[in-house]
Amino acid sequence: MAAAVNTPLPIVVLISGRGSNLQSIIDAIAAGELPVEIRAVISNRPDAQGLQRAARASIATRVVDHRQYPERMAFDAALQAAIDDYRPQLVVLAGFMRILTPALVQHYRGRMINIHPSLLPEFPGLNTHQRVLDAGRKETGATIHFVTEETDGGPAILQARVAVLTGDDADSLAARVLEQEHRVYPVVIRWYAEGRVQLDPQGQVRFDHDVLERPLRLSSESGAPC
Ligand code: GRF
Repeated sequence: MAAAVNTPLPIVVLISGRGSNLQSIIDAIAAGELPVEIRAVISNRPDAQGLQRAARASIATRVVDHRQYPERMAFDAALQAAIDDYRPQLVVLAGFMRILTPALVQHYRGRMINIHPSLLPEFPGLNTHQRVLDAGRKETGATIHFVTEETDGGPAILQARVAVLTGDDADSLAARVLEQEHRVYPVVIRWYAEGRVQLDPQGQVRFDHDVLERPLRLSSESGAPC
């Protein structure tokens, strides 16, 4: 069951843009619903709107601009050094749009999570919503997963489902999926902080010690995992 949490879990959030998921985490902390401390927000883009959200919440910000690193390895080394300066116990990717090298991913094994706007393993990568529409899917959603070497391919923790409606375009679908992202990302981060969710040495997700056979969902009525 949930472990008692006394000290907030130190986390670092990585972003590249708008930062609305970051905002949902900031808001959940402010509401007393999330026992974590955002030690820093790190962006690979100096103009990321999320940096202003962090600054407004008095959170430290750093930019590691990928354009200043012609080699991916050098960028990742600088990124890792920046992250580790803050000694996070969890690294949260929230719209971070760079592919990470295996060395960096390995360094944070079991300590790095990502949110992707599809029901993985379907539709990894970019332009997700348009591809869902083009494929004629009736349902899509969002997945929170541990990060592994395979882009958008790590073991899934939780999925939120969203119906595709007649007349949807990529923007309307993205907006409804994003609403769900904002609801579920803070919940999964809280579970991690409470020690309820972890990646085991075999690469399986455990929730309350049990191996997850399939990603969790949140019941829409009670908000309980199911
Ligand atoms: C979200 O849809 C997230 O799933 C994807 O990138 C988007 C980021 O949005 N990885 P924001 O920057 O959090 O507003």
